[in-house]
Amino acid sequence: MQENTVNKQHDLLRVLTLKDAVGIGLGAIIGAGIFVVTGVAAGLAGPAFLIGLLFAGIIAGFNALSSAQLAAVYPHSGGTYEYGYRLLNPTLGFAAGWMFLISKLSAACVVAIGFGSYFYQLIPVFSPLVLSVLAVLLLTVANYFIKKAGMLNLVIVSITLISLLYLVFSGIPAVKQENFQPFAPFGMAGIAEAAALLFFAFTGYARIATLAEEVREPHKTIPRAVIITIVSAIVLYAAVSLIAVGIIGTERMADSKSPLHVVANTLSTPAIKTVVKIGACTAMLGVLLSQILGISRMMLAMGRRHDLPPVFEQVYHRFRVPHVGVLFTGAIILLLTLVGSFEFILRSASFTILLYYSITNIAALKQLGSEQIYGRIIPALGLIGCLAMSVALPLQVILSGLSLLVVGFMMRFLFHKVYS
Ligand code: ALA
Repeated sequence: MQENTVNKQHDLLRVLTLKDAVGIGLGAIIGAGIFVVTGVAAGLAGPAFLIGLLFAGIIAGFNALSSAQLAAVYPHSGGTYEYGYRLLNPTLGFAAGWMFLISKLSAACVVAIGFGSYFYQLIPVFSPLVLSVLAVLLLTVANYFIKKAGMLNLVIVSITLISLLYLVFSGIPAVKQENFQPFAPFGMAGIAEAAALLFFAFTGYARIATLAEEVREPHKTIPRAVIITIVSAIVLYAAVSLIAVGIIGTERMADSKSPLHVVANTLSTPAIKTVVKIGACTAMLGVLLSQILGISRMMLAMGRRHDLPPVFEQVYHRFRVPHVGVLFTGAIILLLTLVGSFEFILRSASFTILLYYSITNIAALKQLGSEQIYGRIIPALGLIGCLAMSVALPLQVILSGLSLLVVGFMMRFLFHKVYS
């Protein structure tokens, strides 16, 4: 009976097509990764960061299929936090939720800093830091009003895609082959760490899996949307990265927090500089908006189980948003942006999200045979890839990530004691 009601609700909501799902996926994915993190990765691996990019993209694709397989059976908010609780055990469920929070809060800070850096090149009214802070404030408030940024997302994605394609086509004649030599100056270790950081650039794909309740023919549409989105992101990122290396070389890419602005500055195609800066700003604002939304909903789900204080469960009726979560999220991102070290925060975001997706893949492996849409090989490869990338990060990052996990468990113990 209950299932029928749910199905009926599903039918009413099934309005999104394959094109919409791909648009939503690309909107959640393209942001600071391509516009900022490629520079850091180029510094770590030289031109061979392109191999890391490919590896990270393929593993992201496997993870995305695992998420889609799980979402097909458990179409609830909370992502791997829910799958962990339902399919594995509360410990792994909580670990996933906590890792998600740490990762997305750090990632949002990276995106905010990236936004400040590019917007400053566009209109240097305030310092990049002040601009980052203003973006966080603005989007925290915007989260009260914008819940499903359907049309806005489409506009953002179109501007971003046009700007990146314009950069690629304008840049082709300026590519210098010598900028690809030496190809791998820091060997395998550099490539592996670059891959771990570039995994960040592909995150956001889980947004497609969460559309399971709103997409027409989800069993067919979601896997297709996942594959089209990830393949498009890999091709786009690879093309942009090839052009950037070919034009300014990896050393200059590594020296800037807005490497694609440096690339555009060397070109004389009409309006290229402005187009790239606008594309970067819109892309990062879109990602930041969806990150604040995702974090506050995870806090809501965790508050319901008392894994966070139940105050996070509160929904502000006028706007129907989990307002405590939204405000808390904005405050933490602001704090990290003001006091954090950019490179450390970026690495922490990558480490914790790799652990999160490791748990996603373990949950997908645990699903019944009848629920396995793609076989066990996909989650198995996704799991191996995530673990391999996570251990490629510096020991300090790994230890601090694990310490934060221990802190999380201690807090959970406290919350359960106080609120149950
Ligand atoms: N994939 C997102 C970005 O690159 C997090 O900004």
